[in-house]
Amino acid sequence: MRRPFALAAAGYLGALRLLNGARRAGEPPLVRGWLPYLGCAPAFGRDAPGFLERCRARCGSVFTLVIAGKRMTFLLDARDFEALIKEPKRLSFYEIKCEIGSKAFGYRRPDESPIDNDALEGMYGEHLKPSRLHELSRALLARLREDLDARDDPGEDAPARLRWRNAELYEFISRLMFDAGAAALYGEDFPSDEVYARFVAFDKRFPLIVAGVPLRFLSGVADDRAWLVQHLSRTRESMSQLMWARHGVLSRQTDARERGQYALSLLWASQANTVPAAFWSVAYLLRDARALAAVREELAAGGADDPARRSGERVWTRDELDSMRLLDSCICEALRLSSASMVLRRVTESHAIPLVSGATARVREGDLVCLFPYLSHRDPEIFEAPNEYRFDRFVRAQGVARFEKRGERVPFAYLPYGAGASMCPGRFWAHREIKLLIATLLTAYEFDVPRHALPPLDQRRAGLGILPPDGDLRVRLRRRRRR
Ligand code: HEM
Repeated sequence: MRRPFALAAAGYLGALRLLNGARRAGEPPLVRGWLPYLGCAPAFGRDAPGFLERCRARCGSVFTLVIAGKRMTFLLDARDFEALIKEPKRLSFYEIKCEIGSKAFGYRRPDESPIDNDALEGMYGEHLKPSRLHELSRALLARLREDLDARDDPGEDAPARLRWRNAELYEFISRLMFDAGAAALYGEDFPSDEVYARFVAFDKRFPLIVAGVPLRFLSGVADDRAWLVQHLSRTRESMSQLMWARHGVLSRQTDARERGQYALSLLWASQANTVPAAFWSVAYLLRDARALAAVREELAAGGADDPARRSGERVWTRDELDSMRLLDSCICEALRLSSASMVLRRVTESHAIPLVSGATARVREGDLVCLFPYLSHRDPEIFEAPNEYRFDRFVRAQGVARFEKRGERVPFAYLPYGAGASMCPGRFWAHREIKLLIATLLTAYEFDVPRHALPPLDQRRAGLGILPPDGDLRVRLRRRRRR
């Protein structure tokens, strides 16, 4: 009885080795998983950070996983990140970008299309740099105020105790941030309830879409995507300068449908991370009495209690916003704790990656090399008490916060926006949006937040950016009097 079992097991392991590959000299330890082809995909999909931690405990900080037919080499020590970020040729982002964009949004692969993608990308740098955010900020604030006024029930003249109302914080922030962010980019009459509902349905399935599951197996998603593409293919007079500039290039080089697909890709990039990032920034801040008091004081010093500000007649200037260093730090800290983006590169030529340990890790052409900053953000040698929210962790008298490990500076320890070739071009705008949201909310509302724990992170989206909460947080809020 035992013998046939041993033979079957040996046969299975042999087949697994054949299908999921074998380790070659100089390569990092290989974790094949237990399923042919799928390899470690189920364990990684269930709980990516936990699984990577277990692999690190067994194999050290560099190892290769077989995931759905792909070989993915992980570098988990933040001191090794530079080796990937500073090697854009042999570790390329371009191929990955071509694949994901066309799979998720339906446009032609940029390497097979006449569209001038360099021109489109150049526009981000121009229109989303800190000195150009004024127009977007005004539009965002106008929409925020409009949405908040529309929700102002039972109104600020009601007795104080009656003005308290309950809200699910994630639902509340999501809708506010989505509406205001989308209106700033796509025009003041955008979006509608239907855009929001269809976007949420599409985004929910996004992890499966990028994993390669055909849309026909994801009920309703093809419809939602087609509807959004059609809706976004139209221009609106009040669109931002960025959208008009993109339209200028795209209208010369493609048709309305593909313009809509490009517009959907930007809508996704600009919303899918900003919404949960705004939620965590608000939720952590409201839960920490010291942080809240300090930020309220900072806002008051910037004139938050000025009646013209409360009524929305006076908007925050760039200098005022730049001087809010504690609020900057609160947002950075919330992103540190909620970000699970993955920095991915395709190996274009087999070579050996030099590691900080002095060893090297050989990778093959076609492999993927990955960083998972979720774990470096929790490295106790870099971030003291890494699981604690410390609102002033990122405050520096000048310049940006610097982090060290074992006495050495680690320039890429903190990567919520990715790095190098794939670094987020919307990062300044994202940070500004969240800052304006918090400044507006704290100026206009008082909050009462329960003491129980915040909802956990939804790990099913690990790899895609800021994780949403798995659940919501019920709070009470009350409009402050304007005058
Ligand atoms: C807190 C909010 C945000 C976070 C955490 C975030 C994070 C990221 C990350 C990690 C990437 C790189 C993805 C990769 O390596 O594959 C990325 C790419 C990108 N982001 Fe953001 N992002 C945010 C908000 C925004 C906003 C507001 C915009 C635009 C208005 C934007 C536009 C983009 C674009 C266009 C790309 C693709 C860049 C490329 O393909 O080279 N993002 N973002």
